[in-house]
Amino acid sequence: MMRILHVSCSPRGQISESYRLSRKIIEFLLEREPAAIVVDRVIGTGAISHIDESYATALGGIQQSSAERFPEGAMARSEELIQELESSDCMVIGTPMHNFAVPSALKAWIDHIVRVRCTFNATKDGYKGILRDRPVYVAVSSGGRYSGGRARQPNFLTPYIKTVLGVIGLSDVTFFSVEGSSLGPQAVTEARAGADRALREHFSPSCAPVSPARIA
Ligand SMILES: Cc1cc2nc3c(=O)[nH]c(=O)nc-3n(C[C@H](O)[C@H](O)[C@H](O)COP(=O)(O)O)c2cc1C
Repeated sequence: MMRILHVSCSPRGQISESYRLSRKIIEFLLEREPAAIVVDRVIGTGAISHIDESYATALGGIQQSSAERFPEGAMARSEELIQELESSDCMVIGTPMHNFAVPSALKAWIDHIVRVRCTFNATKDGYKGILRDRPVYVAVSSGGRYSGGRARQPNFLTPYIKTVLGVIGLSDVTFFSVEGSSLGPQAVTEARAGADRALREHFSPSCAPVSPARIA
């Protein structure tokens, strides 16, 4: 049965714009796969702490990386989060833009799942992802606009997410956004309508159905 991992990153929880948009993505996915299981990983309220000393030491190559050696703390949390991601067939991330980039809660999650010798290898030819690829949808909400002709700010969020997920083997990443949430009700209405249009186009029946990712 298809498993959808829903990672929600806004400190505003279920009333947030990014949560709202990510739930819409999930509704489209459920239309295609009504029996799919949705696994909610709520991180926006600080549920994932920053990595700790033992984890940084292990990943820095100073000691052997091993969950047995570090049964507590960030290493154990990393095992849990990686397993959760590995067992999903599809992932939906709902995230606000914070200071032109990902919020610190999402960065903390990334620090736990992008792990050398576990989700990627560093080779002489560069980084090689270990995870099997699967569709990833990212719902972004921002106060101003960061894409298109009316963008007035830099955007480190989408290129960063694409790059860092690519490192671990997830290259099928699609972004949807509601941009301009601070620009007044009309801007929000327009941005939501634009996101709805983009969702309908992407998930229209002519697109290939999302099927559970192949087991590598
Ligand atoms: C700490 C912080 C930093 C922010 N930085 C940006 C930013 O760089 N660019 C932007 O457009 N909006 C920024 N915003 C506004 C949020 O992106 C915006 O309110 C967004 O719609 C919140 O989404 P949410 O409802 O999913 O949390 C920031 C908000 C906060 C709290």
